Amino acid sequence: MDNPYRGVDVISILDFGRRELELLFEYADKAQKYARSKIESLKGKVVALAFFEPSTRTRFSFEVAAKRLGADVISISGEEAISTAKGENLADSVRMLDYYSDLIVIRHKYEGAAKFAAEIAVNPVINGGDGWQHHPTQAMIDLYTVQKLFGTVDGLKYALVGDLKYGRAITSFLYGLTRFKPSAVYLVSPEQLKPREEVLTKVRELGLKYEVLESLDPIIDEVDVVYVSRIQKERFPDPLEYAKVRGSYTIDLKLLSRAKPGLKVLHPLPRVDEIALEVDSTVYAAYFYQASLAVPVRMALLSLILGGEL
Ligand code: NCD
Repeated sequence: MDNPYRGVDVISILDFGRRELELLFEYADKAQKYARSKIESLKGKVVALAFFEPSTRTRFSFEVAAKRLGADVISISGEEAISTAKGENLADSVRMLDYYSDLIVIRHKYEGAAKFAAEIAVNPVINGGDGWQHHPTQAMIDLYTVQKLFGTVDGLKYALVGDLKYGRAITSFLYGLTRFKPSAVYLVSPEQLKPREEVLTKVRELGLKYEVLESLDPIIDEVDVVYVSRIQKERFPDPLEYAKVRGSYTIDLKLLSRAKPGLKVLHPLPRVDEIALEVDSTVYAAYFYQASLAVPVRMALLSLILGGEL
C-alpha cells in the first residue's frame, strides 16, 4: 500500500479508513522497537506543538515521539505564554508556526480550530483536540490498544461510559469504531451526558449499530471493553449542571466482580473519580498500558506524514 499519510492533515479519525488505520498499527508495531531509543529518520525536521489548552499526555507523547525520530521540537503552551495574550489572532500564530516548522500539532478550546489552522498552513496539521469535537490521535491509540489486547478490534462488545456529550476522546473512539465491526456498542451515560444528536446521526449514517443506556449494570457481564471518560467540567456552560452529574458513575471492584473474564477498562486519562484506585492493580486495568502506547502510535503517525523510515 502506498503511504496514504504522506503530507496529510489529521483533523478527524473519520478522515481515515480501516486499511489506513491498519497500516498505522503496523507502523506502531515497528515504532515500539524504538520507543526507548532514538533514530534519525526525521533529522532536520521541526515539529511545532501549539497547545492553547492544557495537556500533559498528548503534548509530552508528541514531543517524545518527535524527538525519538530525531526531529527538533518547538512548543508553545498556555494562551498567556504566547502572543495570543497580546491580541494576536489564531491565523497569524499558525502562519508564523508554519514558516518555522514542518508540521504543527494544535490543541485548542474551540471546535474547528484545527481545521481552520489546516486551511491556513501549507504544512500538515494534526489535531491534538479541538473543543468537544475531535481527538483523532487519541482514537488511533485507543483502537491500537484494543488491537494489541485482543488481537482484533472486530467482534467485541464495547461499552462507552461517561461524558458522551462533551468528551472528544470518547466521541472520536466511537467514530473510530465505525471503521471496524464491533459485535455491540453500548453508549452509557446519565441523561444529561448523552451523545449529541449530530454524533449519533453520523454514526448511524456510517452503519454502526448502538444502544443507549443509563447504567452499566445490565451489560457488565457481557462486554469486552469498557471505555470510561472524565466528565468534561470545563466544557459545561453552567456549573450547576456539572454539579448534578458529578460522580454519577464509578467503575469499582464491586461492579467488576460481575465482569466477564478478560474484560479490559480503557480511559484516555486524566481520571478524576470515574475509576476507583482499587481497580488499578487488577487485570481489568488497561489504561496505563493504553497511555504507554501513545509514543509508538504518534511516532508511527509523524513518520508516515513526514516521510521518515521506521
Ligand atoms: C483527553 C482530552 O484532552 O481530550 N485526554 C487526553 O488527551 N489524553 C480526555 C480528557 O481530558 O478528559
